[in-house]
Amino acid sequence: MCGITGYIGFRDAYPIVINGLKRLEYRGYDSSGIMMYNDKQIHLSKTKGKVSDLEAITNKEEGRRKGNIGMGHTRWATHGVPNDVNSHPHFSQSGDLVIVHNGIIENYDTLRKELISRGYVFQSDTDTEVLVNLIEEVKKQEGCKLGQALQLALNNVIGAYAIAVFDKTKPNEIVVARLGSPIAIGVGKDNSEFFIASDASPFIEYTKDAIYLEDEEMAIIKLGKAIQVHKIHDDSIVDANIQKLKMNLEQIEKGGYDHFMLKEIHEQPKAIIDTYRGRMLPDEGIIRMAGIDDNINKFLNAERIIIVACGTSWHAGLVGEYLIEDKARIPVEVEYASEFRYRNPIITPKDIVIAISQSGETADTLAAIKLAKSKGAFVFGICNVVGSSIARESDAGAYTHAGPEIGVASTKAFTTQITLLTLIALKLASKKGEVSKPELRVFMQEMQLIPKKIEALLKIEDKVKEIAAVYKDAKNCLYLGRGFNFPVALEGALKLKEISYIHAEGYPAAEMKHGPIALIDENMPIFVIATNKGHYEKVVSNIQEIKSRSGKIIAIVTEGDTQVKEIADHVIEIPETVEALTPLLTTIPFQLLSYHIAVMLGKNVDQPRNLAKSVTVE
Ligand code: M6R
Repeated sequence: MCGITGYIGFRDAYPIVINGLKRLEYRGYDSSGIMMYNDKQIHLSKTKGKVSDLEAITNKEEGRRKGNIGMGHTRWATHGVPNDVNSHPHFSQSGDLVIVHNGIIENYDTLRKELISRGYVFQSDTDTEVLVNLIEEVKKQEGCKLGQALQLALNNVIGAYAIAVFDKTKPNEIVVARLGSPIAIGVGKDNSEFFIASDASPFIEYTKDAIYLEDEEMAIIKLGKAIQVHKIHDDSIVDANIQKLKMNLEQIEKGGYDHFMLKEIHEQPKAIIDTYRGRMLPDEGIIRMAGIDDNINKFLNAERIIIVACGTSWHAGLVGEYLIEDKARIPVEVEYASEFRYRNPIITPKDIVIAISQSGETADTLAAIKLAKSKGAFVFGICNVVGSSIARESDAGAYTHAGPEIGVASTKAFTTQITLLTLIALKLASKKGEVSKPELRVFMQEMQLIPKKIEALLKIEDKVKEIAAVYKDAKNCLYLGRGFNFPVALEGALKLKEISYIHAEGYPAAEMKHGPIALIDENMPIFVIATNKGHYEKVVSNIQEIKSRSGKIIAIVTEGDTQVKEIADHVIEIPETVEALTPLLTTIPFQLLSYHIAVMLGKNVDQPRNLAKSVTVE
């Protein structure tokens, strides 16, 4: 969590750093700060609240915005409540060093006590202030340069970090390091300028050349010099691998929509095409996925597939379980990464672990991968962010190619993950002889119709708004689905609670009578997926049970449905498709509904309270 950004070069650093912070606000937004170096002074501005609150402060005084060197931070609090003092950047005691940090220093308390015994006085409650003082103390004790002091200090640190440190006694360099949290360095022409950020979005309009540090690496960024990358623990030199970025500015802007979430909902038809493009070849009746083709024997000999993920990605994983078991007949288990990593699971070299993560940085998912690898399992990563930690840590994998997802509430990540899982299920099914070429071809042709069907579905927005207006003041909601659409019910409930703060639960429809039915009264809206495929009659019976208890029924049905229409209070129609693909359609009205309810309630849709886009702490 937290976003860090920095600049050193010939341009005004302020606009680069402050705009960079705005682009990184999805990582955390409870407080923010910026340091600018000018007139041989460090000018520090920081405050509780959003980057816009920080801007209100910096706008008052030119000195706070001047200079060609700057570092900024947008915070998601771990140690210490969100307030002005705990905001980053943090000074060392002498005032010479300044740090921005994303991550957690687990042994900060021991280090803090040690530093206090050496005369250090702390201003904040943060682990970060401990780290910057530790670096200062090492620098003093060893009489060394910043880079070496940082390296020695980090050898005493337990935890996770992406950090950038500036030393005003050597103002032509910034030193950065990474363990467990991402950091990218943008490289300007002839090393005349450098950009630092948690992801590449803050510097995309300035350079396409970027170095992503690996875990346990640090870099000394010195103006006019090629970047030196070292291993933190043994000081060996690492080749700085400069990658060409493919992202463009338009992709990370709102493009006329009021919110990123709405933009991303509307991007789904294209995102799904981008996910299957080049992989689905209906004419030839084949699915091409290098990560599977290159390891096909491992997949075909696997005794079991274990899917690990968190949040929305976990819901996509559940759809994956239904798909892979149904089509490829391979046993699948779906695990919360946070439980899996700590519960001493049985994992063998005959298992394949599929890790799903939009950001590719979720700490629990990353730890689950490391555990699986240590037990000899083969790990296949499904990520959206190219070059992310999970993508790099996996043995093989596939990107969803959904494009940047900025809204905290996942939308296109979910549908593209399901698209990819569908391809995996079908590919394995065809390799195992569970589906014939003609069947595969028909399925792929149906998949190719999905983007157009979503486009048609997105046109019902006005109807969804009417329903949102009726139920926006509900205190509790229930979401029900069966089969492939049970995970969609879970996802619908998650979408509502995370951006509108209305309590919502997702349930398999038939489980309702084992408890939640007691909640139903005339004030309870119940969102039911009742498409004409998959247990339709059973779901209709569940709807009748709700009706008899006066619950309000909002049903997602297939076009032309007449039976549910007679019972439900509202119906939303989705176009006809094969059962296994219905989640790609049924989820759309739920996304729109949550979005419009949150907007009507005046909530901050893209940055809901207490949340962050990348959960890089466990
Ligand atoms: O980046 P990841 O897919 O690993 O993130 C996992 C969850 O944190 C994420 O899906 C979260 O639940 C979303 N905010 C849900 O909309």
